[in-house]
Amino acid sequence: MGCKIIGCGKALPERVVTNDELAGLVDTSDEWIVTRTGIRERRVAVGETATDLGATAARRALGTEAGGWREAEGAVDPTSIDLVVCMTISGDTVVPSQAAMIKAALGLPNAVAFDVNAACAGCVYGMEVVTQMLEMSAIDQRAAAAEGRPPRSNPMRRALVVGAERLTRLVDWTDRATCVLFGDGAGAVVLDWREDEPGVLSSFLKNTDDPEGVLTVANAFDMTTFPFGGAIEAAGEHSVAAATLNDGTAAALDAPEACPEGYEGALNPYINMQGQAVFKFASNAMAEAALAVLDRAGMGIDEVKCIVPHQANERIIKYAAKKLGIGLDRFQVSLASVGNTSASSVLMALADAYQGGRIEPGDAVMLVGFGGGLTAGALLYRA
Ligand code: ACO
Repeated sequence: MGCKIIGCGKALPERVVTNDELAGLVDTSDEWIVTRTGIRERRVAVGETATDLGATAARRALGTEAGGWREAEGAVDPTSIDLVVCMTISGDTVVPSQAAMIKAALGLPNAVAFDVNAACAGCVYGMEVVTQMLEMSAIDQRAAAAEGRPPRSNPMRRALVVGAERLTRLVDWTDRATCVLFGDGAGAVVLDWREDEPGVLSSFLKNTDDPEGVLTVANAFDMTTFPFGGAIEAAGEHSVAAATLNDGTAAALDAPEACPEGYEGALNPYINMQGQAVFKFASNAMAEAALAVLDRAGMGIDEVKCIVPHQANERIIKYAAKKLGIGLDRFQVSLASVGNTSASSVLMALADAYQGGRIEPGDAVMLVGFGGGLTAGALLYRA
């Protein structure tokens, strides 16, 4: 028994931003970006919200809109979806959750919805949460039937898992070290509980503390609505360089903000990254997670048909491939046209793998992710 992926889809914003365009914005070049990362262009959501992107990817996975991969003909009945989980770090609102916004946009009357934040490893963490919930529900329903009692929790048989990011909202377009890396997009899968399918074979999650803050996105500290005054004295000033990409142009503005003493560094609401430290962590974490799921499943790497990794940097994937003793051709690499889309990236690449015919029924597939937190994880399933 296990969860089966019965539909998969992705959605991209319309606006393409090439490396050459970014070279007109910051001191960089197409050659540097391609050589160091493998990224050639990315999409930026200037007209779409994360809800738009997530809902479109979900419709394609459900089969209510063309453009996705489906296990069988016909669309999934919207009333059959019990759960919507969205992985994101750049949702449209904090409340409602991004999952609740997507559920409302799709009209899924029986679903409950919530978000998961595990940064760029979000896909693996979200899939783990959902597959465990469906499995626990199946066990509960079986026990309830045997004992002649109602189930102890919401019966969950079918779930929609979505990664939806409008990550470029969090990008400092004046910082060449980060602005060339990220993009927007969404990916989605429909998971169906099957009594006669193996589903997830093994999983592995790991968190490594990040005391140096090698990868952070802060909430801008704002006490202006606190009505009693004086609890934390505002001290110092922080200059926030903001920029908006609008038809390829950037507008930088300097907005001094009061900030409490000791919180100065926390005011930068953009993606802050020490690239080399993250690179080192990522390449080792990917190989560790991949070996851990193989070990837990009692399988060898040669039994895995397709590995779908987080799409941050082609060099990281190459490094992990080398450590695992396999070629790059075993990996789905989709980053050249989309960049790093954080929690969306693995599901977007998975949609490419299904649509490209790389995954067939019975194949073993591995998802691997890593990101801020520092999070890492992998999930091995039988398609
Ligand atoms: N264009 C030109 N030069 C640049 C650029 C750029 N866009 N960015 C940095 N440089 C310069 C640096 O200033 C430096 O110059 P210097 O030697 O004169 O000091 C030089 O290039 C080398 O910089 P490094 O940081 O050492 O470059 P590196 O080869 O490490 O590549 C990169 C940088 C691409 C960021 C890489 O470190 C990387 O991919 N790191 C991992 C990122 C990642 O995987 N993030 C995933 C998680 S994201 C999330 O969870 C939200």
